[in-house]
This record gives sequence, structure tokens and C-alpha cells, in this order.
Amino acid sequence: MFINFWYPTVRSVDLGTSPQRVRILAHDFVVFRDAAGKAAVLSDTCVHRGGSLSGGQCKEDGTVQCPYHGWRFNRDGHCMRIPSLGIQAKIPPRARVDAYPVEERYGIVFAFLGDLPEAERPPIMPIFEAGDPNWRFTVASFDVPFHYERSIENGLDPAHNEYVHSTHGFKGERESEYRVNELVPTQNNPYGFGFMHTYDVPPRRKSVLRNASAQSAKMQAGSGTYGPNQMWTYIHMTETKAMHQYLFEAPIDERNTRVFLVNYRNIAFFRGGLRAKLNNWLDKKIHERNMFVAGEDIVVVSRLQPKLTPPSTARELLMPADKVIAQYRDKLDEFESKGWRLDMQRIKRDYDRGNVIYAIPSPGRRESKGWVLEATPLVPAADPATVTQLATG
Ligand code: FES
Ligand SMILES: [Fe+2]
Repeated sequence: MFINFWYPTVRSVDLGTSPQRVRILAHDFVVFRDAAGKAAVLSDTCVHRGGSLSGGQCKEDGTVQCPYHGWRFNRDGHCMRIPSLGIQAKIPPRARVDAYPVEERYGIVFAFLGDLPEAERPPIMPIFEAGDPNWRFTVASFDVPFHYERSIENGLDPAHNEYVHSTHGFKGERESEYRVNELVPTQNNPYGFGFMHTYDVPPRRKSVLRNASAQSAKMQAGSGTYGPNQMWTYIHMTETKAMHQYLFEAPIDERNTRVFLVNYRNIAFFRGGLRAKLNNWLDKKIHERNMFVAGEDIVVVSRLQPKLTPPSTARELLMPADKVIAQYRDKLDEFESKGWRLDMQRIKRDYDRGNVIYAIPSPGRRESKGWVLEATPLVPAADPATVTQLATG
């Protein structure tokens, strides 16, 4: 798991007037709205004596109030009030918690969990059709009982559809004709890669999409990544009819993941605000179908061994169709060489002792010292000499 990327915290519609606790990267955060309704994300641990801020309340001055002794923290993480000192008291500068950059986009509250200054931050994955009235989108979130890297690898995997998904494969019933076609690289970005390929789908018999989608059995589809935890999948039924799915994943810990699925489609809805009820019904049908497909993946992926991706491909037998899996892992190695990987061995060992809590470092830590909580341990960045050596063979 890595710091210095944007992570989805909650869906915008689910964040009301109460603070919420979310667990990401094995750390707890409080998500709340300030007095202006703008979302804020802070480390959940109160620096007084460890209260959980998300168990408190949002106050009319835009702060979140700790439930234990009433300290109030604003969206920048600064403590604005310590009731035990009395009303006029001066607040000590160390009374602050980590505050993370927040952006609300695609119906999701995203937090940048890391300490990079703005100019150096890898961006939230772009959605090119966002805002286009010819496209309609839905946002769902659900939990899966496996590591997010396993989840992303499964989403990329072009060879599993034929066997896992009854809607986009033949369940292994046409072995003589089946093979994975060439994966054509597309949509590169500094934090990931992408590919498209042609594949055969069974005709849709009982689907609300039947009339909207192509009758042809050949479809274009592809996937790609953007950072360790964001990926896209394009399904092009014809040259003009398409479904674009975007996964923004929040690793809860090394065994569980919260998936946010943003589904864009230019089919199966009425444009121009017409027939809103019918559009909502179609949204529901699309959501049900997506959850059915996700359910097929969950059955298989939750039983993979080992639970985490193996550190070396020597313990797996990769084929050409697995090239994209190897490419994804290469990207993770790059992020690790920058010093962004959490040192989970140390974190787990220390948390087992039960007397320490870490905070994911926020950008504020680059500007001031004297933080009460220690920053979470990271795997040290690669020595630049080693990286050059690797690159030159
Ligand atoms: S622990 Fe939060 S106010 Fe005391
Ligand atoms: Fe799948």
C-alpha cells in the first residue's frame, strides 16, 4: 500500500451532517463537512489523549469536535478550542492533527493521503466524458474481502472473462475457438498504462441492454491503470455505443478493499432530463448487473493464494495474456522506489503491541515540526545508485 495518491473516502451523497470514520491504508480518518458544506478529511486520532474524532460532532463553526473532552479541530487540522482551558485560552501550536487535501469529483470525496506538495501530486484519474450530456453516470461503493492489488489485477486480466463471467464470456464452452487476442497498448500516463483488444461475447438474451447494445459478437474492450488504486475499463459494443467503468479503490487494510465504481454509459437512458423515473430504473438495472458481475469476480478472487501478490513472478507462471499484470507490478515497484510504500511489517508489529498509533503524513508536515503523532513508517526509497544500475542492466 502506498502514500501519495488520491483515495476515495465516501460517496458525496452519503456524507451528511455527521462525521464519518473511514479506514484506508490501515489508518483511520474522519470525513466531515465544514460550515460551508465543503468536505474535509483529517487523521481520526485526537492528539489530546487519542479520542476518535469521527465519534464526535460537526459544530456550527465548521469544526469537528472530539467526543472525549470537546477539543475542536478545523478543516486544516488546527485545534480551535480546548474547553478545559476556558473560553479565552491560547491554543498551543502542537494542538493539530494531519489534514489532507480533498477534492469532490464524480460523486466521490477524494483525499490525497500523503505529504507531496500540490505540484508533485499524481492526479485523480481523469474521466474524459464527465460533464458530457451524452453520457450518464452512476456511483456505487462496495467492500471486497481481498487486497486491492489483487482486485486491480483481476480488473486488468483479459483472460478471466471467458471463464468467470457468464455475460462476457462463454464459461469455457468453446475451447477450440478461444484465445486472447493481441493486446494493443493505448492511453499511457506517467502512473500507469492501458490496452485494448477484441473479444467475443455471447448474445444477450434477457437484458435491458439487449436493444441498445450490438448484436455482433465481436466487441472492443480494454483496461488500464492510473496509480496503484485507480483503473478504467472501456467496453465498446459498437463504434458509438459504449460503457466506461472507472474503479477507484481504497485499501482498507491488506485483506479488505472498498471499491468505488463510477459507471458511465452513452446507452440505455433518455437525454435532456426526459423520463427521469425511467432513467433511475435503468440506473438500478445497470447497477444490479454490475454487482452480479462483481459477485462472480469475488467468488474467485477471494480464494486466491497467496493473499497478497507474490514479491517475485518466479512463483507464478505468467503467459502473454498476463503481460498487463506484470506491467502493473512494474509500476508498483516504481512507486516503492520513490519511498511511498508503507512498511506494513513494522506497522503490524507495532500495532500488535497496542501502545502506538501512527498518522499518514500530510503536506503540513513539510512546513512545520513538532507533530504529536509519529508519521507512519515507510519502506525507504531506493538508493539512486541502485536504480541506475537496474536501468542499465
Ligand atoms: S481526547 Fe480528544 S479532547 Fe481529549
Ligand atoms: Fe471480472
